[in-house]
Amino acid sequence: MINAQEPIADKKSSLPPPSRKGFVTNYPPFRQWKNTEGEEISPAAPINIYVHIPFCLQRCAYCYYKTNELRDKRSYLDRYVNAVCREIGLAASQFHLGERSVASVYFGGGTPTVLKQEQLEQITECLHQHLNIGTPEFTVEAEPVTLTQKKADTLKKLGVNRISLGVQSFSDEILGICNRLDNEEKVRKSIDLAQGTGAAVNIDLLSGLAGESTETWKYTIDRALAAGAESITVYKMELYANTDYYKSLRRKEIVLPSDEQELEFMRYALDRFAQARYLPWCFFTFTKNGQYKNIYASTLWQGADCYAFGASGFGNMGSYLYQNTNDDKKYMELAEAGILPVNRGYRMTGLDEIIRTVMLGMKLVQFDLKAFQRKYGFRLESLCFSVLEKLASENFITLSEDEISLTEKGILYGDYTGKCLAGPLMDMKQ
Ligand SMILES: C[S@@+](CC[C@H](N)C(=O)[O-])C[C@H]1O[C@@H](n2cnc3c(N)ncnc32)[C@H](O)[C@@H]1O
Ligand code: SF4
Repeated sequence: MINAQEPIADKKSSLPPPSRKGFVTNYPPFRQWKNTEGEEISPAAPINIYVHIPFCLQRCAYCYYKTNELRDKRSYLDRYVNAVCREIGLAASQFHLGERSVASVYFGGGTPTVLKQEQLEQITECLHQHLNIGTPEFTVEAEPVTLTQKKADTLKKLGVNRISLGVQSFSDEILGICNRLDNEEKVRKSIDLAQGTGAAVNIDLLSGLAGESTETWKYTIDRALAAGAESITVYKMELYANTDYYKSLRRKEIVLPSDEQELEFMRYALDRFAQARYLPWCFFTFTKNGQYKNIYASTLWQGADCYAFGASGFGNMGSYLYQNTNDDKKYMELAEAGILPVNRGYRMTGLDEIIRTVMLGMKLVQFDLKAFQRKYGFRLESLCFSVLEKLASENFITLSEDEISLTEKGILYGDYTGKCLAGPLMDMKQ
């Protein structure tokens, strides 16, 4: 256990004697600098790339994402893909993105695999044309029903090495209530197809779906493990007012598991994952032996830059957070007119960046206190000591000189620890 720190602000209460001597040339002063031949003057750090494809075959009953049902909008896709390519060219030249190496590429949605082979190729080729892509981690999200042999071959050809399948459940009954087009058989086929490409496969599951019982949940977890995917992600279903679930719930047409039931589901999942050596690299993703970490998410949560393309895509460049317009039509018109389709943004203060480092960093289960101190020059414990003590005494974390680790309870409660730790820092904003 570490020692309580003196509050930073109160260390000196008296001023030094007044003096006009001692002009400040620089800070930190040169006497603190060390000899170097310049090798540490590093070029701009690697960047992550996100491409948003806001189209799906159907709107799932629980889903709150910005997406459109395709239906008769298929012809619309060509225009959207052209607009994304236009945006890539614009942003690459305005921000010199091609001068930076690329750590990861992520096609998310919506459902990127509703795009035709030629459209997926067009975007990927455009990225290669304007950016220094190399061979990074390349993830594509896919709804199982959209993954055909032809599409799987295309993903492989394009260099996709991580396929994230939105499975949600292995129970046909639960999938039906969700308005999904999948069933267990189609899901299994798509896992085979994804695995056949040689990519690492992630399976998304949702806990807390309508109609879920202990039996259906156990079945889903057991089937997910039996599938042998490299990675299993379990999101807690969040209920939003813009979803069919919300309307159905108000009309008493569906029943959601209680919070206590949902916790029990997750306890079961955590036990089974531990038995099968699927270890958490973040509080909601469990990978075979703790390998196959997702570079995209983990580097972003540690503060790396991400340029996001596509309607409603949001990214962060240095201390600036921005989001593109989420109006698809406006997005396309702006990109076609050669205007960056950015709609809103936020310049983070130094304090915002520290809060973000803590909140997002805690998702990664282990938080490196020494790295935090190296980066920001003070110990996190000096500001958050009593919160850390409480979290440790209530068994959400274990604490050492070097790191904070989420316990199983901490993992179960997700972002709770990060939000608690950010509390004292947020208080400083007022
Ligand atoms: C954008 S979707 C991509 C996958 C693909 N569209 C599909 O559904 O098969 C990413 C994931 O978000 C999750 N998700 C969707 N709605 C959610 C909600 N209301 N609460 C929590 N997670 C949700 C689902 O698990 C989904 O797989
Ligand atoms: S869960 Fe996936 S397929 Fe369903 S509406 Fe949301 S993004 Fe589309």
